[in-house]
Amino acid sequence: MEIKGKTAIITGGASGLGAATVRRLHGLGARVVIADFNVQGGETLAAELGENAVFTKMDVTCSEEVQAGVNLAMERFGAIHILVNCAGTGAAMRTVGREAPHDLDVFKKIININLIGTFDAIRLAAFQMQKNDPGDGNKDRGVIVNTASAAAFDGQIGQASYSASKAAIVGMTLPIARDLSPIGVRICTIAPGIFDTPLMMAAPDDLRASLAQQIPFPKRFGKPDEFAMLAQQIIENPMMNGETIRLDGAIRMGAR
Ligand SMILES: NC(=O)c1ccc[n+]([C@@H]2O[C@H](COP(=O)([O-])OP(=O)(O)OC[C@H]3O[C@@H](n4cnc5c(N)ncnc54)[C@H](O)[C@@H]3O)[C@@H](O)[C@H]2O)c1
Repeated sequence: MEIKGKTAIITGGASGLGAATVRRLHGLGARVVIADFNVQGGETLAAELGENAVFTKMDVTCSEEVQAGVNLAMERFGAIHILVNCAGTGAAMRTVGREAPHDLDVFKKIININLIGTFDAIRLAAFQMQKNDPGDGNKDRGVIVNTASAAAFDGQIGQASYSASKAAIVGMTLPIARDLSPIGVRICTIAPGIFDTPLMMAAPDDLRASLAQQIPFPKRFGKPDEFAMLAQQIIENPMMNGETIRLDGAIRMGAR
């Protein structure tokens, strides 16, 4: 799918990997809807980009707000062609602690945001995508990019909820690709290793150092625009569908 002139919703678009994707797609001529519950960050980015960028306050765990973001994109730009799901967060908690077992509400919260929030955005955006006129020979009506994590495959100590949520995104990618094939909508998932974003900045120094040391090559954290580059390729390449791609400098994370 050619990106120029298309409309993209990016959840989690106010920060980190989402913001880098917003900037790249906007730079390529897309109209972007920045969907995030971080109002200040989202509004600042939309104002900076100016024309062809709009912010919508969206908590992906609130289906009404996800629907409102989809409606805003339709009203403002007339169609939705691209959805990039970046909204997500983590929690560090062992399955059993010295004082208490894992807080079940924490587990549910992470599944709610990362997994159910991603699926909700997919189903509501794809419902609109099916109305698009497939302009080129590949008959793409829409493209969806999800964000999983290397932790979907090699989750560390304390990552039960996060790894479960991300592994489920990997698991649903192929069946959703199959579901959406009759309407000409493709979907792929990116599984990033360690990227330099505010999420990672918040991690303790010793964890950051341990992770950086585990990356074979290049021996550094990924840059957010390197994630956006792969999102661009997934959107543009008509054969990319139903697959999860690790983007991680060959890291296979250890237990800690
Ligand atoms: N940074 C990394 O190393 C890394 C590695 C693997 C996967 N990821 C994943 O990439 C995605 C983006 O992370 P990031 O590193 O850019 O973090 P980030 O914190 O910089 O950005 C995440 C954005 O998501 C938003 N968000 C969080 N919960 C939300 C909700 N309920 N509704 C709407 N928006 C919400 C936040 O406000 C924020 O703007 C996440 O899904 C994360 O799990 C990040």
